[in-house]
Amino acid sequence: MMTKDPIDKLLDDAASGKSLFKNREVLHFTFMPDIVLHRDDEQKKVTQSLIPLLKKSRPSNLLIYGKPGTGKTLVVKKVLNKIQERVKDGSFPIQLLYANAKEETTLYGLLVKFGRQLGLVSQKELPTTGLSISEVFNRLMTVIEKNTLNTVFVVDEIDYLAELVSKTGKDVFYSLTRANERLKKGSLTLIGISNDLTFKERLDPRVLSSLSEEEIVFTNYTVNQIKEILTERIKQAFIPNVLDPAALNLCAAMSGQEHGDARRAIDLLRVAGEIAEREQADMVREDHIRGASLKMEEDKETTALNSYPLHEKLLILAVMKANGSTTGEIYQSYKNLCKTTRQKELTQRRVTQMLSEIEMTGLISGKIIHQGMHGRTKKFALTLNPETVKKAFKEDLVLEDLL
Ligand SMILES: Nc1ncnc2c1ncn2[C@@H]1O[C@H](COP(=O)(O)OP(=O)(O)OP(=O)(O)O)[C@@H](O)[C@H]1O
Ligand SMILES: [Mg+2]
Repeated sequence: MMTKDPIDKLLDDAASGKSLFKNREVLHFTFMPDIVLHRDDEQKKVTQSLIPLLKKSRPSNLLIYGKPGTGKTLVVKKVLNKIQERVKDGSFPIQLLYANAKEETTLYGLLVKFGRQLGLVSQKELPTTGLSISEVFNRLMTVIEKNTLNTVFVVDEIDYLAELVSKTGKDVFYSLTRANERLKKGSLTLIGISNDLTFKERLDPRVLSSLSEEEIVFTNYTVNQIKEILTERIKQAFIPNVLDPAALNLCAAMSGQEHGDARRAIDLLRVAGEIAEREQADMVREDHIRGASLKMEEDKETTALNSYPLHEKLLILAVMKANGSTTGEIYQSYKNLCKTTRQKELTQRRVTQMLSEIEMTGLISGKIIHQGMHGRTKKFALTLNPETVKKAFKEDLVLEDLL
């Protein structure tokens, strides 16, 4: 665990008045709990599939999937740690490599991440850009052969590899799933993890069949299981008896409702704790959980709003100003905003297209109105609180004056 800088500690304590937290880190997303509840079966299955490693043979490739926050990353990391611990000083070299595709997004970046873990640390050995993907791939294979390594490559959130559906990406990825056949010495097993259940259908059938030699599905947690997972965390994260049992129930229910997302449950708890502390409350209560849920929803919306380019932002403002209006009226409102901010307006055609794109994200909603002999038109309304939009867009220098 990290020991805190003494100055920081003092300042933090002073800032928060009385603290409800004993150890906030426990609720951070990088924290690895010692106890993994309700995942015995999954831990066994993942371990079982990797056991050939200890018997000096190659495990099958493995595809793991299940909804977000169902413990996939946690279980895989835990199994890898345990195996690595055991084989640390064995005569049989095993290397377990992990990378998250969400952090890399390109196959090149992902392979470099693996390469670094294989010991290709310098730019000369493996440059961050510039080589062909197949050359990067070859360099990794060379290391494996030279050292007769038995390797497992874990690709977490594999669905983020956009290239998986492009021609070259598909081919390289296919080679990776079949890499083992090419190796004269050593071995390579691929583990893919995904929370996107449609991902399998989008995969090239060849890639899918070699990636999913074995499959493990993580089922959703029930509300009660979430509650027990939370109870464990609460013991470590908060000082005793500062969590109202009703708040715990509500937190578990809110996260369990949809599909039993343990991450959301833990996030809710952390944010609720912070809100309670800021209010100098002596306990985390139901209201704090509700407040946390609202805040998290708002943060998500703010992030989405801020990620839009300028004209999309102007258009969202136009919808806000002409709430519930037709496409034509919104276009008029948009043109006015362009004039005020001295931006060159886009065509109505383009704007209509942008409206549909924004509608898909759910920030605005559209309704088709039939106007008898005049045909039909679409009316748009903002689905979020105008205050959230204002707060988010105030950061944008061009829009600042409008708000
Ligand atoms: N059984 C469990 N016991 C204790 N903590 C758990 C358990 N399952 C999940 N968690 C915690 O919940 C959070 C989410 O778990 P994890 O990251 O493993 O989910 P995931 O299935 O990989 O989700 P995603 O698909 O979104 O990546 C983590 O903080 C993890 O420590
Ligand atoms: Mg994960």
